[in-house]
Amino acid sequence: MLRVCVARAQVAGQAKHMIILSIDTSCDETACSVTDNTRVLSNIVWSQASLHAKFGGVVPSLAQRKHKENIDWVVEKAIKNSKYSVGFAGKIKKIDCIAVTIGPGLSIALGVGINKAKQLAQEHNKPLIAVNHLEAHLLSPIANPKFPALGLVISGGNTMLVKIGKIGSYKTLAQTRDDALGEALDKAARMLGLGYPGGAILEKFAKEGNPNKYDLPIPMLGRESLGYFSYSGLKTSFYRLVEKEKPLNKIKIYNLAASFQNTAFNHLTRIIAGSIRTSNIKYQDLLVGGGVAANAEVRKRIRKMARDLGFKVWFPYSKKLCGDNAAMIGICAYLNSKNRKKYVNIKSIDRAPGLKW
Ligand code: KG4
Repeated sequence: MLRVCVARAQVAGQAKHMIILSIDTSCDETACSVTDNTRVLSNIVWSQASLHAKFGGVVPSLAQRKHKENIDWVVEKAIKNSKYSVGFAGKIKKIDCIAVTIGPGLSIALGVGINKAKQLAQEHNKPLIAVNHLEAHLLSPIANPKFPALGLVISGGNTMLVKIGKIGSYKTLAQTRDDALGEALDKAARMLGLGYPGGAILEKFAKEGNPNKYDLPIPMLGRESLGYFSYSGLKTSFYRLVEKEKPLNKIKIYNLAASFQNTAFNHLTRIIAGSIRTSNIKYQDLLVGGGVAANAEVRKRIRKMARDLGFKVWFPYSKKLCGDNAAMIGICAYLNSKNRKKYVNIKSIDRAPGLKW
């Protein structure tokens, strides 16, 4: 079975098609997709975010329960919505491989997707590919970069700058020592009473405000070459500022949102630029993925930095490919499909909540 799929993958390398059904349940999105090489045929994401909102963050046991309740229809819909073959049975038959996220993520949530992938692989006699969620975010821009390239993941759980030696070979250059960028934006939004997850809402309010209205301390100033992002000090300063400015009104919220984003993104690009300057490699491409990559202002800042430092930037072509989704899992599986180590035995596949590279 394994041999068949690798053979097809090799053919895929010669411009044939490799159809992959992929599943991701690493956090609070129940996601399934069908991809044909790097083309997205369907991409269903059922978000539980509103259910976790009243708790101010993701509750693992609730996430697991909701994944279990929803995984079957999400998978069915992803298969039905994909238009490459006629009829449900015909579509299943044409699927070459099942890909599933094994980590990093919430252990009990990952288990739901893995069990579903195992069941499908067994029932329909398909091979399984294990996918690293972070690697999928990194490769979600579907670029054809010059290696070594740089990769940046900016999401709710990760802020990480990576050297991509080639597909499958990664080295972390900088990472957060406390909160992730998305997490920091979510917390700032909550302090302003904008709800959870607040990154996208904060962006809307920030567009109306003056980013220089309030002076917030830029984290790690003068220590950009150490390879750390840090958002916890900024969060504390912002909390004090918000308390001082209370009672809040619309104009104050606009300005506070814009000032927080401004400082958070300023820090992000300073650390990226610092890491690039201290490395003696001339990078030509930067791939950016993760939920925060949907933010127009962060894209503008990263593009400007790239122009100044002389490299190209690649973002996912749609917002749906930025946040957690399964299409990026299928694309990552396809790009890795020549690597036999990624194919796993149905019996031995297991969750890896703390997976690195
Ligand atoms: O990649 P993702 O969906 O999930 C994780 O793997 O964490 O990222 C979610 C994060 C949240 O923190 C959310 O607030 C943030 O991405 N986010 C945004 C925007 N859209 C989502 N942050 C800033 N601007 C946005 N437009």
